[in-house]
This record gives sequence, C-alpha cells and structure tokens, in this order.
Amino acid sequence: MELVTGATGYVGGRLVERLLREGRAVRALARDPSRLQRRTGLEAVEGDLLTGAGLERALDGCDHAYYLVHSMEPAPGASSDSGFASRDRAAAENFAAAAQAAGVRRVVYLGGILPSDGAPLSPHLASRLEVERILLEALPGSTALRASILIGARSPSFRILVRLVERLRLVPLPAWRDHRTAPIDERDAVEYLSRAPLCDEAAGRSLDIAGPDVLSYAAMIERIADLMGVGRAPIPIGVSLTPVASPIVASVTGQPLELVRPLMTSLGRDLLPRDDSARRIFGLRLRPFDRAVEHALAEWEREEELAAR
Ligand SMILES: NC(=O)c1ccc[n+]([C@@H]2O[C@H](COP(=O)([O-])OP(=O)(O)OC[C@H]3O[C@@H](n4cnc5c(N)ncnc54)[C@H](OP(=O)(O)O)[C@@H]3O)[C@@H](O)[C@H]2O)c1
Repeated sequence: MELVTGATGYVGGRLVERLLREGRAVRALARDPSRLQRRTGLEAVEGDLLTGAGLERALDGCDHAYYLVHSMEPAPGASSDSGFASRDRAAAENFAAAAQAAGVRRVVYLGGILPSDGAPLSPHLASRLEVERILLEALPGSTALRASILIGARSPSFRILVRLVERLRLVPLPAWRDHRTAPIDERDAVEYLSRAPLCDEAAGRSLDIAGPDVLSYAAMIERIADLMGVGRAPIPIGVSLTPVASPIVASVTGQPLELVRPLMTSLGRDLLPRDDSARRIFGLRLRPFDRAVEHALAEWEREEELAAR
C-alpha cells in the first residue's frame, strides 16, 4: 500500500491517477476526502498534517508514502504568507514522526531546485529544503526530488505564466527576466515520482529533476506566447519589483497572493539542476519545453477557454 498526501492538490492528484493506472494500491490522505474523485483501487482517509489527525490510520501498513503538501495558502489568523515556513516545518515533523512509528520504508518528496550559485535561499526555497532535510533525516532511505516549474494544465506556476500572456498585451518583465531554469513536463515529473519508491539507486538521495531545455523567464514567456499564437510586447524593467508586483500578478492571474508572493521571491537566481543523475538513474527520455507547453495548453482548452487564442 502506498500513501499519497496532497492528493487533492495538483501533483498529488496527477500522481494518484498514474499509480492507479499501473494497478498499484493507493491510499490518499486529504483534509476533506469528499474532494477526492471516487476511483476503483483508491482508499481515502481523512487527515491533517498540521494537527497530526488521521496520520496513524493513513500510514498503517504503508511501505511507501508520498509527501506532496505545502502550506502556501490563506491561513486563518496568519497575516499574508508569513507563516508558511513554520506550518510546513510542523507538518513535516508530524509526518516524519508518524511515518517512523508506522515503519514506512521510504518517503518520496517533491521540493524545489535551489540556486546554482549557492546564493542565500528565498524563504520559499529555504522552507522546501527544510522539509526535505526533516524527511531524509527521520527516514534515511527516502528520496527527495527537486523540480522547478512543472509544465501542466493545472500547475499553479505554469498557469501564472499563461494567464500573464493571455491577459496582458504589454508584459512587464522585471530584473529577474534573464534568470534561467529547466522546466519539466508534468508527465515526466509524475513518471519520476511513480518510479522513485521502486528504484534502489534513488534511496537516501536528493535528486534534481529537470527538462532538457534551459530557458530564461523572458524566453519562457516568449515561447508560451508564440505557442498560443499571440503577439506580446515585453517591457523590460530594471528592478525586481516583487513586493509591488506580486499583488498585481495575483490579481491578473487569479492565483492566491499567498502562493504568488513566495514563488516570485524565488525568481532572483538561476534555478538549474546540479547534475543529470536523476535522468541517468531512471533512464527517462524527457520531453522538450515546446511539447510540454503544447500538451498543457491542449488539455487546458479542453476544459476552459483561453481568451487570447
Ligand atoms: N506545481 C509545481 O510546479 C511544483 C514544482 C516543484 C515542486 N513542487 C512541489 O510539489 C508539491 C505539491 O505541490 P502542488 O503544486 O501539487 O501544490 P497544491 O496543488 O497547492 O497542493 C497542495 C496540497 O497540500 C495539501 N495540504 C496543505 N496543507 C495540508 C495539511 N495541513 N494537511 C494535509 N494536506 C495539506 C492540500 O490540501 P487541500 O486540498 O486540503 O488544501 C493540497 O492537496 C510541493 O511540495 C511543491 O513544492 C511543485
């Protein structure tokens, strides 16, 4: 039995579909299990990582557990996004203790790629790394995968980029526009996640998972506009503007400020993979950026109109 936390979220939801297709026995932990789609082979358990409620039951008999939770959400009593790091620390500690007690062999975690130049981490990336350390220290046979942007119709960071292109004819590009990253097709990220608990070589390791193309944020926006078939004029701006820009980006894209602000503070550096160990160990043939975007846009448009197309 494998437990998936964050199953009502983007990555967790996609992973549950993938594991069930393979015929694996899946249990999903959710704060509100009525939000999970009923599926043959899927067992739902109510639980909350912050309070620890339901964890013992959820982990009972599980060999592997996926940790796909973060707390960048509007929180009662918290002012703006200030509390996500302490909530994420508490959630990871609760989970690690419960997984140890239940005899789980391996936790698989998805966090964020860190700046390649060793620069100080943004609060968002520092928190993702702290969660990785808590899980790997408590359960040393675990696997941490680190990704930057996942390209998929429901990926919050990809949706921000698409909404900006869709809704702004003139796209302001602050100083972070030239920083580069290697976005990964959601299907490849989910493939890595599904194989991770079964791969001996991945045990006890932290591996960067990345697509084959390295692009600056400006180039990504340009490629997305091209693939959407719309002309957009970039307006380069000399400063980073994150404190001012994040509420505007949240409002234009319809994503919560509690998510947009921490994500934007991580744009100040190149976020490139340390090496290609993950690709070598798992032997995946990774999809290029353009194919990932075309696939994501096609899925998006099957469910929702994209006004600019
Ligand atoms: N999306 C990307 O591009 C990307 C890229 C790199 C890494 N990642 C990593 O992938 C992981 C999942 O991200 P995502 O994009 O799938 O996030 P998401 O869609 O926002 O999902 C977050 C999930 O966490 C659950 N959750 C939050 N607090 C919880 C708690 N106290 N107890 C139980 N569940 C809780 C949420 O449940 P509710 O539905 O109840 O709120 C939701 O299912 C994160 O670690 C993220 O850093 C994502």
